[in-house]
Amino acid sequence: MSEKKIAVIFICLGNICRSPAAEEIFRQMTINKKIDLYFKIDSAGMGNWHVGQLPDNRMRAHCAKRGYNIVHRARVIELNDLNYFDYIIAMDNSNYHDIIRMCTTEEQKKKVHLMSSYFRKFNHYSEVPDPYYHGAEGFELVLDLLEDGCDGFIDELKSQFNL
Ligand code: 4NP
Repeated sequence: MSEKKIAVIFICLGNICRSPAAEEIFRQMTINKKIDLYFKIDSAGMGNWHVGQLPDNRMRAHCAKRGYNIVHRARVIELNDLNYFDYIIAMDNSNYHDIIRMCTTEEQKKKVHLMSSYFRKFNHYSEVPDPYYHGAEGFELVLDLLEDGCDGFIDELKSQFNL
């Protein structure tokens, strides 16, 4: 394992619901597995409506019930993120295609993955759906999907990097 950290960024639309939750779930799982030192973890959104804001209150409350304290401040994905990060994880198909359109090289495109590609228990879902206009069940589903996806992603990283 080289000195350089594995840089992972989670991307959704507003960066106030799904991706900050994914960031924190991934962080907690790497801490629990004692591999957090190997990672640089962040999140960002495609849109700028909520820049600088804490995550949505509903998502903060659902996360808190599972022991996740999300304190990320929303930001927009930047062109330099496509070079800096090794793994760019999109929550839904729309995010995925928008990120691919931003890429200028094949190397950048290869870094972009759908969160659903790591699902195991929930592999009948093809994306992490936007919970913004939905009720409590939508937020709980997002967290179930993110826990499943982060677990699968970390297992893949552990075997690929021998962590
Ligand atoms: P997120 O949810 O992409 O999971 O952060 C959304 C938050 C805000 C908006 C859309 C989705 N919005 O349209 O403001």
